[in-house]
Amino acid sequence: MKGIILNLVEDVVRHEHGEVYWDEVVDASGLAASYTSLGTYPDHEVETLARAVAEREGATPAEVIRHVGHQGMAILAERYPGFFAPHTELRTFLLSLNAVVHPEVRRLYPGAVIPELEHSAPEPGVIELGYTSARGRCDLAEGLVLGAADHYGERVVVSQPVCVHRGDDHCVIRVEAV
Ligand code: HEM
Repeated sequence: MKGIILNLVEDVVRHEHGEVYWDEVVDASGLAASYTSLGTYPDHEVETLARAVAEREGATPAEVIRHVGHQGMAILAERYPGFFAPHTELRTFLLSLNAVVHPEVRRLYPGAVIPELEHSAPEPGVIELGYTSARGRCDLAEGLVLGAADHYGERVVVSQPVCVHRGDDHCVIRVEAV
């Protein structure tokens, strides 16, 4: 996983809990946890750091990663305004992920392995993102969608009717306007 994603974990945790807390999380994780945004690190490190936070918070690693995505999206929006500015609503931003955002990410971050995020609109007010990735980071995807909704000032509920963690071969992230 690219360091930019691991940096989001660090930035969100430090911002909410402070330096000392983060240092304790890193110690507990047994990782060096020193990341550059362009660097590539083992995929499990996201999960390992999230587990160290989860143990302190009485949460699950998936809940922590979802939260990191939710809060971390504002950091990505500040860093990459060009991905967000062409849109005034969540719907068209989500439609641009597969065609514009992630392909551009692959150009900016050589070696990036990006997920497939295929969209459909099964009914009015609902967008479904078919998420396919060997990494199974649908928790991160859910959180990023929630953060993007905040960015556009929209209220949505996110759920997963289909998920690899329940035995399916891909995930479906259902985004419903409320
Ligand atoms: C709602 C919007 C988005 C969703 C749902 C989404 C989803 C994801 C997920 C789930 C991953 C983890 C890798 C995997 O699952 O295989 C990922 C990776 C990544 N995404 Fe996105 N993403 C979104 C927007 C963005 C934006 C705006 C950027 C802009 C910088 C971005 C940059 C990246 C990068 C750099 C990676 C790491 C690739 C790697 O480690 O090789 N994403 N994205």
